[in-house]
Amino acid sequence: METLEVRLGERSYPIHIGAGLLSDRALLESTVTAEQVLIVTNETVAPLYLERLKRALQARRTEALVLPDGEQHKTLATFASIVDRLIELRFHRDGCIVALGGGVVGDVAGFAAASYQRGIQFVQIPTTLLAQVDSSVGGKTAVNHPSAKNMIGAFHQPACVLADLDTLRTLPKRELAAGVAEIVKYGLIVDLELFRWLETNIERLAALDSGALAHTIRRSCEIKAAVVAEDEREHGNRALLNLGHTFGHALEALGGYGKWLHGEAVAIGIGLAAKTSNRLGWLSAADCGRIESLLRRAGLPVEADGVEPDAMLEAMALDKKASRHGLKLVLLREIGNAVVTAAPERSVLRDVLSGELGA
Ligand code: NAD
Ligand code: GLY
Repeated sequence: METLEVRLGERSYPIHIGAGLLSDRALLESTVTAEQVLIVTNETVAPLYLERLKRALQARRTEALVLPDGEQHKTLATFASIVDRLIELRFHRDGCIVALGGGVVGDVAGFAAASYQRGIQFVQIPTTLLAQVDSSVGGKTAVNHPSAKNMIGAFHQPACVLADLDTLRTLPKRELAAGVAEIVKYGLIVDLELFRWLETNIERLAALDSGALAHTIRRSCEIKAAVVAEDEREHGNRALLNLGHTFGHALEALGGYGKWLHGEAVAIGIGLAAKTSNRLGWLSAADCGRIESLLRRAGLPVEADGVEPDAMLEAMALDKKASRHGLKLVLLREIGNAVVTAAPERSVLRDVLSGELGA
């Protein structure tokens, strides 16, 4: 097992990464110290891992809540169902919510932990690649609004993140690829070496090569932990982690939170951010090609068929980085060097979108 730290003063916490962690009773007992525990999971993950986790936590008073599966359930109604259960259980302020699942479970359970009695402890046990490299770290919790992704939420850091690499063995290939999109993102924003490593090794991730998974999960968490430690509440550089997300979140909302997986929408968004950067004379056409080729090799989509550019621009205007000064985008000066910048004129964006969306 390897352990990294997210350094946030008295709210610092460890990220444990390794195989077999879900069955490690000593680790779980030292991680989940509360007497009263609610495990929040979903109908897909529960049959795979809930009993194992309950066994490892048998010294605690543990209840479980099994949510329906899917991004379309990352809603206020699901959030309310968690709060209802906490009240039904007479859950105290010193209890702990354990999120067992992918980013959807982590985000909604985390938001419940952030809100219940103004904030209780929670622990993240991410079981998708995307959640292990991104969503379980950093304390962003949220649910979606029908028109806008992650629009209702809070910052609430977990007490610990426990990433068991063995859980990735049951993950469908499409979900694994979705996680790779966020790893490519880290290379693009700050780590040329990681990007080059992926260019040589990306197929090893789809093949579930343990060394490759451990390397990329650790490097991704290192990058995310450093960015979050410097800018927890996204007043500055944390926004870099949103490369491709302004486009991607708009696609997810337009697709009714079901057409593209989050990581797929991010992959398409990364391609659009690269094209926009090239259009501004920043990123070379050759580097745009390298990015697209890497995403394709990972099994990710790079085109969004059937989306109207104007509908896309309207949905993008709801992005959380937009202010009274207008929309902001994360763009690439070069591979490994991203900036947060005012979006180019609507006509430029419209041109890029018209060229790339297959409407
Ligand atoms: P997800 O949570 O929907 O999980 C993907 C699918 O895999 C689901 O069907 C799930 O039930 C299933 N699954 C989970 N673990 C499994 C396992 N081990 N074996 C088999 N199936 C398994 O999606 P995701 O990609 O994990 O997360 C996407 C969500 O994360 C989005 O809502 C996105 O907005 C959010 N996100 C949040 C942050 C953040 O900082 N909070 C960052 C990135 C993404
Ligand atoms: N996934 C973006 C962030 O955590 O800031």
